[in-house]
Amino acid sequence: MRRPPMPSDSGGDDGDPASGVVRYRVEDGIAFITLNRPDKLNALNPAVFSKLDDFITEFNDDHDAAVAIVHGNGRAFAAGADIEHYVDISVPEYLEFMRYGNRVQEKFVTSTKPVLAAVHGYALGGGFELALSCDLIVVDPEAQLGLPEARLGLLPGGGGTQRLPRLIGATRTLELLITGGRFSGRQAVDWGLALGLGEEQSVLEAAKRLAHRIVRQAPLAVQLAKVLVRSAFDSPLASALAFEQAVGAMLFSTEDAREGIAAFVDKRVPRFQGR
Ligand code: COA
Repeated sequence: MRRPPMPSDSGGDDGDPASGVVRYRVEDGIAFITLNRPDKLNALNPAVFSKLDDFITEFNDDHDAAVAIVHGNGRAFAAGADIEHYVDISVPEYLEFMRYGNRVQEKFVTSTKPVLAAVHGYALGGGFELALSCDLIVVDPEAQLGLPEARLGLLPGGGGTQRLPRLIGATRTLELLITGGRFSGRQAVDWGLALGLGEEQSVLEAAKRLAHRIVRQAPLAVQLAKVLVRSAFDSPLASALAFEQAVGAMLFSTEDAREGIAAFVDKRVPRFQGR
């Protein structure tokens, strides 16, 4: 995959996954992908997309991680594309930046394993679009989400005009786009766009609790649930139902299905191998 040239200031990234503009760590089967430019509200520049690219690939290959949580350090998830990066770039460079961001987001969409976004503070523009490319969004009720690009004379280029209407409808999306308005995390939950905190105090704790529940399920069933739901709106119902049945039959033939059924009958906790 071609990456756009990095700006001279790559955000202090020294290549160490524990530091830099994005961080990666795995704990208890959960990969944490942490946006880490808190002084710039985690604004997304080419260096950030490049590290997201690296870490979503690492997550895909990581046998110790069954689910990923993307979240932001500091007071925001991400306040959008880095506007300072736009000051001096040409139209072709802008196009390349947009395309690269889309290719990275597509890796989140097509990752075989589920990716959760834990959203607090601001999730605006490209930051909101990054969350939209995750499988589930867990949101703080006070979070501020939106697509404010029209105020810059721009429009979203990371799926905002396309993924959002499929999730909350054309009317709400268009109103947001042409007013530059924001909406709260509480509203996102009411619209069915995101999940709330439940009994947890913080969005990261709520996302972790959700991730732990996912980790306890049979891995192949989880992965194929993602494939089926992701394809639900792209195919005619009859062929989609046939696909669902084919996937169901394939799962029935797995060792994990034998184990899950046997464990239920034996009244014990299943031990899944992902086979
Ligand atoms: N790109 C670059 N820098 C950004 C940024 C962005 N999208 N969003 C915030 N920042 C920077 C600010 O410039 C500021 O940097 P500085 O301290 O070096 O001046 C820092 O992050 C803190 O932001 P600030 O504006 O001071 O915080 P605030 O609480 O007053 O306002 C926002 C928060 C999110 C409302 C405001 O920063 C904002 O509107 N950001 C742009 C959102 C946007 O248009 N996103 C779509 C981009 S296409």
